[in-house]
Amino acid sequence: MTDLYEKYGDAAERMLHFVETRTTDQAPDVMRVPVADYLSAERWQKEMDRIFLRLPLMLALTIELPAAGDYKAATVLNKPVLIARGKDGKARAFLNVCKHRAMHMAPEGKGNCARFACQYHGWTYANDGKLIGIAEASTFGEVDRATLNLTELPCDEAAGMIFVILTPGLSINAREWMDGMYEDFAALKLETWYYHKARPMDGANWKVAYDGYLEGYHFQAAHTNTVATRTPSNRATYEGFGPHIRLGFPQNSIVDLKGLPREEWGRQENHGFDFVRMLFPNFSFFLAPEMCQFAQLFPGPKPDQNTTVLNYIFPSKPETEEGLKALDEMCDFFYNVVLEEDYFLGLKVQNGLESGALTHQLFGRNEPGNQFFHKWLAYYLDESGQTPKPVMKG
Ligand code: FES
Ligand SMILES: [Fe+2]
Repeated sequence: MTDLYEKYGDAAERMLHFVETRTTDQAPDVMRVPVADYLSAERWQKEMDRIFLRLPLMLALTIELPAAGDYKAATVLNKPVLIARGKDGKARAFLNVCKHRAMHMAPEGKGNCARFACQYHGWTYANDGKLIGIAEASTFGEVDRATLNLTELPCDEAAGMIFVILTPGLSINAREWMDGMYEDFAALKLETWYYHKARPMDGANWKVAYDGYLEGYHFQAAHTNTVATRTPSNRATYEGFGPHIRLGFPQNSIVDLKGLPREEWGRQENHGFDFVRMLFPNFSFFLAPEMCQFAQLFPGPKPDQNTTVLNYIFPSKPETEEGLKALDEMCDFFYNVVLEEDYFLGLKVQNGLESGALTHQLFGRNEPGNQFFHKWLAYYLDESGQTPKPVMKG
């Protein structure tokens, strides 16, 4: 763990340097990404098939279903998904579909129950997915019950997060998948936090939206009176871990770190600098001094659309109504910044891409996070397996 805070300290030192010298982390070259990558239905389908249906997606925090019997049901990329914690304490994921005649089992949302009863004809399932009861079984006829359990999806829980792969039968290891970000997330002890709420937001193509989370170059122009009042534009550190990225954003107050011993700097997250933690392909975790907002981006239903779920968590639950109301106001403020200053802009970008004005988008040397992300997309989309794994050159 010491190591982790040493790395944070090194990042803080670089952020301070960037602020003092008006520089930033840079990629070796400018990168061009074809506009067609954002518009083509064929490309979009490939992204679904090779990325979203094959890689672990962070679909719930442990604190959303902490107790045995807790569940969360949601539609993810048009698939009904049920995550349920069994009597044994293990979180499992299933297609939320009854094996009789395909009715959705659990209603969307969260809850706690000992078993799920189908709303159509009343078949029942345990929260480990086993078929328990066929209604009026004596009249139904012979069936092999062992083949009628809920269809299980690969699911693994680590560092207070539950990852699911939307294709049955693939292997999953959340800790390995998180790579160097595992330690980082584990240190946050997310399993002890308070989950306040989630709010969805519609936006442009998922990559248009995700690109906005991957750089701080737009802070001054796009967030003049909000983000930019605390965080200078175009000063950021980028660290790659597998396909994941930790971005470091200095605050204007980062110069105050100089009043502290250097070995303390790594412990000052949110006091002079902030991190945004990105998990490929669609997760962005922003830990701010006042609150934590994390985004899950879900492409579709068409290539020019995504739905982003913005989630709000806090270190602890306030004891009073006023305290809870204050959290709501804070969440709404940050939600509106994303809506009015990022996603609003994203819709214009989407339209701009569709206009035919550009054949390629440009990602500057000062946008290494975007470059890294697009290179990892290319890596996963390459069926030939010839593309090497991208590395971040800081
Ligand atoms: S579809 Fe579920 S019991 Fe018939
Ligand atoms: Fe932004």
